[in-house]
Amino acid sequence: MSGERNPLLPYRATIQDIIPETSDVKTFRITLDNPRAAAGWRHEPGQLAMLSVFGVGEAMFSISSTPTRRDFLEFSIKRMGRLTRALHEMEAGGRIGVRGPYGNHFPYEKFQGKDLLFVGGGIGMAPLRSLIDFVLEAENRHRYGRVEILYGARSYDDLCFKSRLLDGWHKEPNTVVYSTIDRAEARWTGHVGFVPAYLEKVAPSPENKCAVLCGPPVMIRFVLEVLKKLGFADDQIYSTLELRMKCGVGKCGRCNIGAKLVCLDGPVFSMAEIGKLPPEF
Ligand SMILES: Cc1cc2nc3c(=O)[nH]c(=O)nc-3n(C[C@H](O)[C@H](O)[C@H](O)COP(=O)(O)OP(=O)(O)OC[C@H]3O[C@@H](n4cnc5c(N)ncnc54)[C@H](O)[C@@H]3O)c2cc1C
Ligand code: FES
Repeated sequence: MSGERNPLLPYRATIQDIIPETSDVKTFRITLDNPRAAAGWRHEPGQLAMLSVFGVGEAMFSISSTPTRRDFLEFSIKRMGRLTRALHEMEAGGRIGVRGPYGNHFPYEKFQGKDLLFVGGGIGMAPLRSLIDFVLEAENRHRYGRVEILYGARSYDDLCFKSRLLDGWHKEPNTVVYSTIDRAEARWTGHVGFVPAYLEKVAPSPENKCAVLCGPPVMIRFVLEVLKKLGFADDQIYSTLELRMKCGVGKCGRCNIGAKLVCLDGPVFSMAEIGKLPPEF
């Protein structure tokens, strides 16, 4: 963000559209009210922003839209508690606050010339969506090799971004999408089973490939085991850490892991970096 503006001060923004994704996830498309702020906004795939509902509070979210869309920002938000409930009750035209962008980003520069494997679970697809859309963008696609996307949710209803997942990404050149749900359902003809087991079955080769993961900690743990079995090295695997945050700018210490602050040094880390963090992590 440009200028010497206080980074803790939110910009006013307007909700332009609300796209229901599942029964408890909605994508909020917003624009900044101040045209200069909107023109100056730059984010990278994987970065975060703090959203506020006036009179309720604020919380950190991944920016789920690609930075190549300069005309709006999107956030895909699961209803959890007070703040997210208030957001879910809002309608298009509603006003919120937004400050950011914060944190590092997926190192898409390092990924150039490589194949990419995305593994996501549930709402964990939100930050991955920004990077996947970025990589598949016509102007960027030639910089990356084969793209594999493996995504799972508890049920068909819980699959986020269905239009991309079932009818969009797989139509892109050299792109394969594997989706799965935990338990069989009459209307689902796709794969049934947990993400790690499906990954083991698909068995992607680690050769010249980076894996990018985001999802619930239990899924990440088992996915890592499978990737290790398949021969992926720690520096080929990237994930985001979602520690609870308050300031977002490295001042309050709420998000520290040892000497690292997730809001500044993260949220994106390679497994090689995560391996050096204190053992409780
Ligand atoms: C770096 C980062 C990126 C995030 N990106 C997204 C995103 O793209 N989409 C999205 O829906 N959510 C995301 N979250 C989580 C989001 O910030 C929380 O869901 C939000 O703070 C909940 O606020 P609330 O007031 O509605 O719920 P609260 O009342 O604060 O919490 C409700 C319940 O959710 C639990 N909870 C809240 N936050 C977290 C968390 N970070 N990890 C584990 N449990 C939590 C609480 O323990 C409680 O049980 C992200 C969090 C971080 C730190
Ligand atoms: S959230 Fe305050 S230091 Fe990271």
